[in-house]
Amino acid sequence: MRVFTKMSDIGTVANALDLAWDVKINPFKDKELGRDKTLLMIFFNSSLRTRLSTQKAAMNLGMNVIVLDINQGAWKLESELGVVMDGDKPEHILEAIPVMASYCDIIGVRSFANLMSREQDYSEEIISQFIRLSGKPVFSMESAIRHPLQSYADVITIEEYKKVQRPKVVLTWAPHPRALPQAVANSFAEWINNTEYEFVITHPQGYELADEFTANARVEYDWKRAYEGAHFIYAKNWSAYTGNNYGKILHMDRSWTVDSEKMALTDNAFFMHCLPVRRNMIVTDEVIDSESSIVVHQASNRVVSAQAVIREMLKTL
Ligand code: CP
Repeated sequence: MRVFTKMSDIGTVANALDLAWDVKINPFKDKELGRDKTLLMIFFNSSLRTRLSTQKAAMNLGMNVIVLDINQGAWKLESELGVVMDGDKPEHILEAIPVMASYCDIIGVRSFANLMSREQDYSEEIISQFIRLSGKPVFSMESAIRHPLQSYADVITIEEYKKVQRPKVVLTWAPHPRALPQAVANSFAEWINNTEYEFVITHPQGYELADEFTANARVEYDWKRAYEGAHFIYAKNWSAYTGNNYGKILHMDRSWTVDSEKMALTDNAFFMHCLPVRRNMIVTDEVIDSESSIVVHQASNRVVSAQAVIREMLKTL
């Protein structure tokens, strides 16, 4: 695997899970595979989990790791082609990417949506340029429209906690004070749609996601119906995708916050969120502090998903 930006890059969810279980059985058995190999992690946006878990994964594989925060100490990078560079960006990615690639063997990139232009965001311009110009294996640490390492960890977590063969998994929109990309929700839908789970997406009118991600999922505007009998509640905020509202917050309706009353409608569902989470906006303290919350274990599985992906890439070197 030379590119990992979406579920299909790893084959199938079943294949991804096989790779994950192999990592879990013995995380250190492939320490020789990464010897004298370098992972470069490039962040255009902030991170806690992705940075630490991916670094830990690379270290488990015996790799060296370089981390670059583009917004802290690096030259600002121009990505537009044919532009007269008379602004505040002194370096073009056309040179910067091959230069960065010359210092490493594998590249991880985090680059969020800017939420100004749907066309630009959904073209995944930044990560596509790394794939085109670096000549190195490239994986997404969250792109403008997907967060595949997160979704991979989410599916691992559901498999570990599920009590029935075909659990009901509910992705619910929840309120947030800032406009957030659709990446986590898109990606979660993409992965869950490739499982046997019963999958329901619930959100207020106006927060519809792109059809290419929701595919066969049942969309339910009545959260009560969505929660009924659920085995997993996965909360996430996202801004509007459709029409002229792209990237906008339509409202912050707190009646969508995940609370104990809603969880009582479920079949003892587990609560999931990718983190960071805004307490008492997305989810009440009572729910996230309860036994049903598996968010920390979910985050710990980010090491497993990253390690499985990097290991497949090391095998191609
Ligand atoms: N879930 C996740 O990607 O967390 P970070 O933004 O902290 O990396």
